[in-house]
Amino acid sequence: MPRKKVSAKVPLQTDLESVLVTSAAIKRRIKTLGAQISKTYGREEITIVPIINGSIFFTADLLRQVRNPIRLDCVRIFSYRNSTKSHGKPKLLHSLTLDIKDRHVLIIDDILDTGKTLSAVVKMLKKQKPATLRTCVLLDKKGRREVDFEADFVGFEIPDKFVVGYGLDYAERYRGLPCIGVLKPEKQKLA
Ligand code: IMP
Ligand code: MG
Repeated sequence: MPRKKVSAKVPLQTDLESVLVTSAAIKRRIKTLGAQISKTYGREEITIVPIINGSIFFTADLLRQVRNPIRLDCVRIFSYRNSTKSHGKPKLLHSLTLDIKDRHVLIIDDILDTGKTLSAVVKMLKKQKPATLRTCVLLDKKGRREVDFEADFVGFEIPDKFVVGYGLDYAERYRGLPCIGVLKPEKQKLA
């Protein structure tokens, strides 16, 4: 069967003002992060807790670089809605189904911004008395912190810009972009 030519340019990429992290850079960094995580946990089993939807892409790629046995469960948090601004206190929409008492838990999120989401999730999960509780984020906007919080594993530090791609959305769009970039201001008007 004749092969179809696939355009190298991803159409939605033209909605970006600039690319902050290329897909090649993400791939390289995830390999290093995976090795770092494997080294930290030794032979222990890790209970991985991604905060969905944003960390789905990152988690899927990262876990294939982690050598430890894993268990997987998700939490869903509501903190942003159709806008680039936070709506105050994060709300838990879907909680864990696995028991995490005495387990090694690693929470994964796409981005650490004000710190409200991760600090709230850490606080919630600590109540269930895990053996250890660590956090891993792909992106860290250090300049935006409103609560004191640092992640144990960080992919990239980025400036205070609203970014989309590789799981990060604007009004649930752009998650499928293979790179991470800044959305053009005129594209930030979707309903
Ligand atoms: P925080 O609670 O302010 O730290 O925000 C964390 C959540 O806000 C992340 O899980 C994202 O869903 C969302 N968020 C923060 N900054 C961005 C961004 O630049 N693009 C897309 N989503 C973002
Ligand atoms: Mg999120």
